[in-house]
Amino acid sequence: MKPMKESPLQKARANYQPKVPTSLTENVVLKEGKPTQSVADQKEIQNLFPNTYGMPLITFEKGDKKDYPVINAGVILSGGQAPGGHNVICGLYDGLKRLNPNNKLYGFLEGPSGLVDHQYQELTDEIIDEHRNTGGFDIIGSGRTKLEEEWQFEKGREVCEKLGINAIVIIGGDDSNTNACVLAEYYKQKNANIQVIGCPKTIDGDLKNEMIETSFGFDTACKVYSELIGNIQRDANSAKKYWHFIRLMGRSASHIALECALQSQPNMCLISEEVAAKEMTLDDVVEEIVTVIVDRAEHGRNYGTILIPEGLIEFIPAMKKLIAELNDMLAHNEDFSALTTEEEQREYVKSALSAESLPIFRSLPKTIARQLTLDRDPHGNVQVSLIETEKLLIEMVAKRLARLKAESKYKGKFAAISHFFGYEGRCAIPSNFDANYTYSLGLTASILIAEGKTGYMSSVRNLTAPAEEWVAGGVPITMMMNMEKRHGEMKPVIQKALVRLDGAPFKFFAENRDKWADHQTDFIYPGPIQYFGPSEVCDQPTKTLLLENNK
Ligand code: FBP
Repeated sequence: MKPMKESPLQKARANYQPKVPTSLTENVVLKEGKPTQSVADQKEIQNLFPNTYGMPLITFEKGDKKDYPVINAGVILSGGQAPGGHNVICGLYDGLKRLNPNNKLYGFLEGPSGLVDHQYQELTDEIIDEHRNTGGFDIIGSGRTKLEEEWQFEKGREVCEKLGINAIVIIGGDDSNTNACVLAEYYKQKNANIQVIGCPKTIDGDLKNEMIETSFGFDTACKVYSELIGNIQRDANSAKKYWHFIRLMGRSASHIALECALQSQPNMCLISEEVAAKEMTLDDVVEEIVTVIVDRAEHGRNYGTILIPEGLIEFIPAMKKLIAELNDMLAHNEDFSALTTEEEQREYVKSALSAESLPIFRSLPKTIARQLTLDRDPHGNVQVSLIETEKLLIEMVAKRLARLKAESKYKGKFAAISHFFGYEGRCAIPSNFDANYTYSLGLTASILIAEGKTGYMSSVRNLTAPAEEWVAGGVPITMMMNMEKRHGEMKPVIQKALVRLDGAPFKFFAENRDKWADHQTDFIYPGPIQYFGPSEVCDQPTKTLLLENNK
């Protein structure tokens, strides 16, 4: 069944043949490196993962044709959508069929809950062909159920035994891949004969390390947002009358905001990690913005663009404390849930906050204070995508400018427009980079499965070189782990990659930002993603990746 009418671009794109590393076009032999160690807390991680700890890094090389036994695999999409998810599944499917045409691939529906609730669908040539090189996760749906309890693993085992599934591929972010590793260890310990392989997904770009150069979806999402920012900048430069405050998705790390700044050169971009490192208050952040606006006004430029990372609010130390208190206070709080009016809820919160957090909560505009008390996500965290930080900043900046005007220290005009870009980019048609990368990740996963591996993440590296030269293989997930406090308990988790203030992308930004703040002509207008045309327009990776690879 065709799910929808296809646009001309979709039709043309369906025929795009993703470029893959040469090693994935041939028969493969596995080259294993030395035993690995976790990034930190080696003893604790080894104790928790006795069966999957210390495995070697794997790379693929050209080998002789091998016969593999029949494989039935299952695949799960976990968490937020990211462009390229469909192509991971297409690569996995094609890879499995190439190894043995009798291999089967089942999709578990609506995320990890599909495994637990036994909701699945066998994927066929027809379904796969309809989804090649398309955005979205609608092929099997996604969800945020956490796979972390033994009863869930056992329910998963039941359905795998019923369908003869001997491998599960989990396509997800840091938390989902942590869960993949726990599941791999559990099945190995129980001799369940179910392998588990992870795939690095998230537009946020925070699942990366020495072995995983980037998560998929980051490239396309940043290009979509940068196009929109560029369009806004051209409008600002034409009309010369508005300040645009643009919040960008990325739950925690500021990689998206930073990459968009590198692509579009706005007048200002806040980086949460820097705000935290400098221990800035909300007033300090407002003061920084005001300084740029006042300076530009002195040159007659009452317009510009300011990028704001979605996670900013949680990186301001005092706000972080307030949010942590709210998280604890609101977790499974039936008294709070029973309150029916916003005013009652506000009063309840005020009566329960510490003396330190109360004045901050009180000082916030009521809409923002309310957004901070909305439902938590399944991990118990505040849903930052629902907090309109851009509006909070506009309100605070406007007040400060009005005071400066009254003191005759500011003569400009301040008219601001707010924007939030997030969902616009998560299901875009994947860029060539993401289409190639994800298809390669899927093919890689099929080989790791055929070779009997478990507890590995599919890895494709050397990503700033042409796709043919990319290096495919597997990385033990335990290698990326450390112990962190979650809900008051120490847990093994994949280390989240925040923006490094000593890293090349941030340094480049920091060296140039004063110039971008001051000169109107420094805006860049990246334009839309191009799928067909010259390679320098269509195949470029992100600036973050290029700078990180010294290019
Ligand atoms: P993942 O980490 O699961 O990939 O999701 C990232 C993200 O898009 C964040 O940038 C954003 O804060 C969040 O998901 C939004 O969640 P939801 O889709 O549940 O609204």
